[in-house]
Amino acid sequence: MKYRPLSKEFYINNRSKLAEKLPSNSIAIFNSNDIMPTNADGTMRFRQNNDIFYLSGIDQEESILVVCPDFPNPDMREILFLRETNEHIAIWEGHKYTKDEAFETSGITNIQWLSNFDQVLNTLMALSESVFLNSNEHLRADVQVESRDARFINQCKSRYPLHTYRRVAPIMHQLRAIKAQEEIQQMQVACDITEKGFRRILSFVKPGVTEYEIEAEFIHEFVRNRSKGFAYEPIIASGANACVLHYIENKEACKDGDLILFDVGAEYGNYNADMSRTIPVNGKFTKRQRSVYDAVLRVQRSAMEMLRPGVNIQDYHKEVGLIMQSELVNLGLIDQTDIKNQDPKWPAYKKYFMHGTSHHLGLDVHDVGTMYEPISKGMVFTVEPGIYIQEEGIGVRLENNIVILEDGYFDLMRNIPIDAEEIEELMRG
Ligand code: GLY
Ligand code: MN
Ligand code: MN
Repeated sequence: MKYRPLSKEFYINNRSKLAEKLPSNSIAIFNSNDIMPTNADGTMRFRQNNDIFYLSGIDQEESILVVCPDFPNPDMREILFLRETNEHIAIWEGHKYTKDEAFETSGITNIQWLSNFDQVLNTLMALSESVFLNSNEHLRADVQVESRDARFINQCKSRYPLHTYRRVAPIMHQLRAIKAQEEIQQMQVACDITEKGFRRILSFVKPGVTEYEIEAEFIHEFVRNRSKGFAYEPIIASGANACVLHYIENKEACKDGDLILFDVGAEYGNYNADMSRTIPVNGKFTKRQRSVYDAVLRVQRSAMEMLRPGVNIQDYHKEVGLIMQSELVNLGLIDQTDIKNQDPKWPAYKKYFMHGTSHHLGLDVHDVGTMYEPISKGMVFTVEPGIYIQEEGIGVRLENNIVILEDGYFDLMRNIPIDAEEIEELMRG
């Protein structure tokens, strides 16, 4: 791997946290993701399933992790099955994990080739009551293809119809929502690489450059710093394009006098950064742009102060909405009559700020984790207010990534310029 892996102790600890949450006589089984096809013999780049990665650090296709904490023979309580390599695979695809390397990565001592899986599973299932299988239960998942885990659910149920089947996803969401120090360090690297990309484009942007040229500058900086690339499809949106929330075409030339909104983050070691910044194409904000910009920045700073242990995320979103409402009144975008007549389910401020302020961030960009239980120490959130004024061709979003501490927060993007004056100064070169 071109990234620095986390320690095997981290993965050993994650598996023991999982084992603690399983009822007695349980078995939990996790599959790698498939390598997704494109057309003809084309494939997408492999992206490991985040749950098996979180529990093993194994970043390879066709791997299976089995955790069976109460099995009488201690050697059988954790088993990792790997694709057995051969000369042909070595020549065409390159190196695959040896058993020793898989142990060094995961801390799992019982590593077997996949060809043994069916037989070993039979032995484990004979003494197991509850079978915990994995599924994508992200609140906003809209998956049209059958994953390897989903296929395995069908196979397992048809081969062992009389076991009790349970969902492991809620346990994984709970565990993954709280980040360990090592994970936070990995996310800090992702944010630092993102910072390098942003500083690079500050001296590159000028009237006439295209959005796709800016995208190319970012990816150049990311890949040369050991990132696989963008954490998600980058948004490079100049002028009114910034008001299209998921604008990813990045095809226009940037005009003198416009703003450009970037929503761009690097991945590193399968962890993600998620940054938004907004800068003036010609290096100087107009008075109106600056007023909108500073309003968004004030909302972001107030929101960050509100995120602490014990806070209810739904209440937090309502509070941020009220702060935004008052900024929009000051900007002359909404007035007291709009507020008085508003639909409580879609308050007046939503006309200009129509998305949420924060989501969990980690191995997934919109990471798993509850939005209905109080915030806890160790969670990582984005803080990303925005104001989008279609009629003025102005869209501003500012997005940082913060870790929740016992008594406040730590900003993983504290070094990424955000003050309007600092941005102008850096653009002057
Ligand atoms: N870049 C995706 C988001 O901000 O949520
Ligand atoms: Mn974003
Ligand atoms: Mn985000």
